[in-house]
Amino acid sequence: MAGPGDFHCPPPPAHRKERPVYTPTVIVHLDRLAANLQALRAALRPGVEVVLVVKADAYGHGAVAVARRAWANGIRWFAVAHLHEALEVRAALPTARVVILGALDPADAAPAAAADLRPILAGLDHARRLDAAARAAGVTLTVHVKLDTGMGRLGIRPEDDPDWAEAVLALRALRVEGVCSHFAAVEPHKPEWAGGQVEQFRAAAEALERRVGAPLFKHIASSRACQFHPEYDFDAVRPGILAYGYGGLDATGRVRTRPCLEWKAPLVDVKTLPADRPVGYYGSFRTRHATTLGILGLGYADGLHRALSNRGYVLAEGVRRPLVGRISMNWAAVDLGPRGALGPGDTVTLLGEEGGQSLWADEVARWAGTIAYEVLTAIHPRFPRRTPG
Ligand SMILES: Cc1ncc(COP(=O)(O)O)c(C=O)c1O
Repeated sequence: MAGPGDFHCPPPPAHRKERPVYTPTVIVHLDRLAANLQALRAALRPGVEVVLVVKADAYGHGAVAVARRAWANGIRWFAVAHLHEALEVRAALPTARVVILGALDPADAAPAAAADLRPILAGLDHARRLDAAARAAGVTLTVHVKLDTGMGRLGIRPEDDPDWAEAVLALRALRVEGVCSHFAAVEPHKPEWAGGQVEQFRAAAEALERRVGAPLFKHIASSRACQFHPEYDFDAVRPGILAYGYGGLDATGRVRTRPCLEWKAPLVDVKTLPADRPVGYYGSFRTRHATTLGILGLGYADGLHRALSNRGYVLAEGVRRPLVGRISMNWAAVDLGPRGALGPGDTVTLLGEEGGQSLWADEVARWAGTIAYEVLTAIHPRFPRRTPG
């Protein structure tokens, strides 16, 4: 009597490519990025700037290409986390305004000033150290005062020291240009969370402006605030993920955006397995019937989250196919099904569109128990970022 294990799987097709290409590719649709940015700018009050967050290599999209295209679409401000990222943007865009959102190492005060970068002040101690380093180097640093209004991360907490504004303004090697903060949570159904932060921000920023005697460049709104709180725009919004196409599908939000990054990988091998055979470390998956397996030449060290083991999918021949067995450091297996017709060198889609289907980082993130940001930024820089057209 024939059981499911006796089912015979057709052999994978003979190699159709003379020389299969084994390099995964990241495709960045800069035209979509431009459309996303245009939609965002169109939604803002005239005069409100976009400080585009391009840290972590523009969330894996390639900071230089993204910054250049954004510049061509009217974006004049950029934000990064680290000096080396800021210098990369500076080299590409000599007159862009670049904010460093991380705590700049005081030892780097001179190169930051020479490149006309704008570090934040991560706290009073950081401010004093930056000032001392700038004075020692004979430079003036343009800075944005970061206020901790509830994130509990970087920034001066105004309630800790009633004289914080005087203390900052006494530092003569620092020129205060801006004041900013960051939301811990923006939830439309819990408006008091972000609302409380904004009240603190507004009061502290205005107190600082009174002491400076001039308006400062004020910014607090990242993507979710951009979407749901036009009243928090101040002088600039500071989005990242929304520009890259996530968080832009909610009908109640201000802006519609589309994902820009696709990740495609060729199969490095295709094999047939009979029923009841283990796949991967510790055999966490066993074939239920004969099937074809596509082997991907990437794993968790390349950005394919291990948490997707036996939980995630890719698109193969335009159909969702499961990642089976444990994802290992540099390889992973896809169950292409008994009639899988792909061969070595044929491509599957880890993120993106194929055959009318799509698979985006927010969905993958749910399978992996993480967020789209981590899915995107985990994609290893070794994969070439290609822009179509
Ligand atoms: C300080 C700061 N501002 C803005 C952003 C952009 O956030 P989002 O991508 O949610 O818009 C980030 C993101 O990590 C951030 O850390």
